[in-house]
Amino acid sequence: MFRTNTCGELRKEDAGKEVTLSGWTFHRRDHGGIIFIDLRDRYGITQIVFDPEAASDAHLAADKIRSEWVLQVSGRVRLRGEGLTNPNLATGEVELLVTKLEILNTAKTPPFEISTEKDVREDLRLEYRYLDLRREKMQKNMKLRNDMTHVIRNYFHDKDFLDVETPIMVKGTPEGSREYLVPSRLHAGDFYVLPQSPQQLKQMCMVGGIDKYYQIARCFRDEDLRGDRQPEFTQLDLEMSFVEQEDVIQVIEGMLHELTEKCAPQKEWKKYLVNNQFRRLTWKEAMEQYGSDKPDLRFGMEFVNVSEEAKTSGFSIFEKSECLFALKAEKAHGDLSRKDIDTLTKLAQQHGAGGLAWLRVGEESGPVAKNSTSEFIDAVVHKTNAVAGDVVFFGAGEFIASTEPLGAVRSELGNMFGLKNKDEFAFAWILDFPMFEKKDDGSIQSAHHPFTQPQAEDLERLESDPMSVKSYAYDVIMNGVELGGGSVRIHDPKMQERMFAALGLSKEETEMKFGHIIKAFQYGCPPHAGCALGLDRLVMLWADEATIREVIAFPKDQNARDLMLRSPAPMPEKELAEQNIQVLPEDLN
Ligand code: AMO
Repeated sequence: MFRTNTCGELRKEDAGKEVTLSGWTFHRRDHGGIIFIDLRDRYGITQIVFDPEAASDAHLAADKIRSEWVLQVSGRVRLRGEGLTNPNLATGEVELLVTKLEILNTAKTPPFEISTEKDVREDLRLEYRYLDLRREKMQKNMKLRNDMTHVIRNYFHDKDFLDVETPIMVKGTPEGSREYLVPSRLHAGDFYVLPQSPQQLKQMCMVGGIDKYYQIARCFRDEDLRGDRQPEFTQLDLEMSFVEQEDVIQVIEGMLHELTEKCAPQKEWKKYLVNNQFRRLTWKEAMEQYGSDKPDLRFGMEFVNVSEEAKTSGFSIFEKSECLFALKAEKAHGDLSRKDIDTLTKLAQQHGAGGLAWLRVGEESGPVAKNSTSEFIDAVVHKTNAVAGDVVFFGAGEFIASTEPLGAVRSELGNMFGLKNKDEFAFAWILDFPMFEKKDDGSIQSAHHPFTQPQAEDLERLESDPMSVKSYAYDVIMNGVELGGGSVRIHDPKMQERMFAALGLSKEETEMKFGHIIKAFQYGCPPHAGCALGLDRLVMLWADEATIREVIAFPKDQNARDLMLRSPAPMPEKELAEQNIQVLPEDLN
């Protein structure tokens, strides 16, 4: 038996007991010939004492012990002396006087300290992830992730959802990202695709009468990485039959209530509820008020629409604009220097704006003050309730161009002014998304995915004016992050064919890419709807982390590499040949 107790278990009531512990050497101190070691495992830390008078052999051997050696120790639990207790440790009132020591394994000196929370270079942490996982923060995050999935599983189980595993080797799921391919050895030249999400399979489950499906599903997307994106990530995926949008919303809200209460009880979130429910905004409202489809609602700073006023502003850029939105940065929140304004201008440009027009109320400086009529300035000041010293920023252009860059400015102002209270969760739903969005080449693509049902009253414009068609798609957001998204699905095979045609797919392409789904829909497909939440993002927010890498045991780095396994890696020619693959020289790529 390696242990009678864990390192986090012993209390003063255990004094006098003979116990055996196993764990890693954390801290080691030598005090006047007596050696103290903090022995660590997942459950905690216990101080163990090597006294030559109690066990001279063990004491002698203990002298060699270094950080992270793995030990098994037996001995008697005793109370720590007066003034020697450690209130920061759950086991801090006792220690173990060792009579027997077994060194289970030695360890090389770790490349970084396990015992401190000192910042360590991330590439080093990822290369030695097994050591990083031993650190307190990662242990806490892994436990939180486990607790959250436990709550989720119980929640769905209690609601009679079936956990169905869908395959990882599938056919392409067109959800916008590039896919990872798996060559087929048996079918030369053919490929499987790793799923971007179980979208089509969960819809097949509905055709299959599963009625309520959920899965904690691994998804794969070969896309540009950011803090909240990984090439391989996990979704909490669900789908329900004979339901409307509202039913899915209720299920997800209930789960997020429970997850918050049970796993982040310290967070304030109820103050953001409206009639005891998450706030709801249409996509249009979110864009008009906050310039984002995932606005951070922990602070106000709503846009003011000054499109009408713009028409007689005297400032030609504004007069020509389809829309003009104003965003007030109050002096009361903080002074903005020219350098701050330059930073915000660059940010707006990164989000597609030509520049960032601004006006400091009560001053003649800035492009707007110089170029516009005083009537326009008065109207803006009046409409935004601005006072001297406030800075008003403007977003001009078409609807998206006038709102999105200003939304990025709003979010950054929220950071600059410290308005994002980290102790709060501001959940909300964004509803009524547009069905389509424009690609760079001017053609259209699905804003969510092509299985989403267009709204009934817009259907007649599907072909004639697709950009005006709204869909039954919804996102759940929190603190400026998209937690998840879903939609009511098309269940009529004719409608699905019409949607593919609206997206510019020929009959042949539709048959080749989606023949299976149209075929399935012809055999009695129930009306259905669903949603998927990014599990990594949920845990990241619950753990107060800035990236999802902190809550994934073995994440890829920013360049999609696994630094620990050193993958991706070249394959031997023989294995490639077996898979019918020939790698082109780099210059032919
Ligand atoms: P969507 O593509 O919006 O919808 O994805 C759902 C949620 O998954 C998370 N997510 C990611 N998390 C980490 N890394 C990534 N690369 C990544 N990509 C997405 C986000 C996102 O909100 N099949 C649909 C859902 C449905 O319609 O039911 C889908 O996958 O939190």
